[in-house]
Amino acid sequence: MSAPNLKIDNLHVSIEDKKIVKGFDLEINGGEIHAVMGPNGTGKSTLASALMGHPKYEITEGNVAFNGEDLLEMEVDERARAGLFLAMQYPSEVSGVTNADFLRTAINGRRGEGNEIPLMKFIKQLDKKMDLLDIDQEFAQRYLNEGFSGGEKKRNEILQLMMIEPKIAILDEIDSGLDIDALKVVAKGVNEMRSEDFGCLIITHYQRLLNYITPDKVHVMMQGRIVKSGGPELAERLEAEGYDWIKEELGIEDETIEA
Ligand SMILES: Nc1ncnc2c1ncn2[C@@H]1O[C@H](COP(=O)(O)OP(=O)(O)OP(=O)(O)O)[C@@H](O)[C@H]1O
Ligand SMILES: [Mg+2]
Repeated sequence: MSAPNLKIDNLHVSIEDKKIVKGFDLEINGGEIHAVMGPNGTGKSTLASALMGHPKYEITEGNVAFNGEDLLEMEVDERARAGLFLAMQYPSEVSGVTNADFLRTAINGRRGEGNEIPLMKFIKQLDKKMDLLDIDQEFAQRYLNEGFSGGEKKRNEILQLMMIEPKIAILDEIDSGLDIDALKVVAKGVNEMRSEDFGCLIITHYQRLLNYITPDKVHVMMQGRIVKSGGPELAERLEAEGYDWIKEELGIEDETIEA
């Protein structure tokens, strides 16, 4: 099995004729963790949803290759089955489907018919990962995200990540609303996933998450595209100084997608 690769090339995304992502380029390989930071409303979540195939978002230009295949030609379920995963900024609540049922369906969807995970193996894995993420056993039988606190939802996204074992994951503000202990737990989960068979894109506003998950690259998104890239030190400077110096350096007056 070759290492995963996601190659985003000059991606443009519109919603209701409003251009939001405008020329986004990024390549993620197995073994790499990339962080995307950027002010509010610069297109980060739109990028994530568009990559997952959300029907509301229209790709007007550009290409995305996932392990050499045209991602944009794949249906949403095909993208998931091929090993792409999105932890959403605002995870939805699904009444009537338990967390455990959801996970088993997702895992079996990826494994394919005739290759379903044996129930005992599933339960063992679930127990182990819930333990690692400090999630109470009762959450397995609760309806997906229903009534979960903000922090519980985020932890649950990481549980999904660890159970589904995707090749490339996009984590959209997985740290928002987490207390400091939960932040460490979430980071532990992501670090546990680190391997040559796994690549990750972390969208975040705060450098503190990156204290626990050291990214290989940090990118700044403004006006719907990456305007600056660097190493972890770039996130540290953003934390200390904000975004004004980048805007000054690049002559950007309005960082939002309206520009
Ligand atoms: N469904 C939609 N309908 C109308 N406008 C939208 C829609 N989705 C996104 N937008 C607009 O696109 C812009 C970018 O939104 P997006 O959620 O991608 O920003 P973001 O970079 O993730 O911001 P944040 O850091 O606040 O999460 C915003 O101005 C937003 O209002
Ligand atoms: Mg967002």
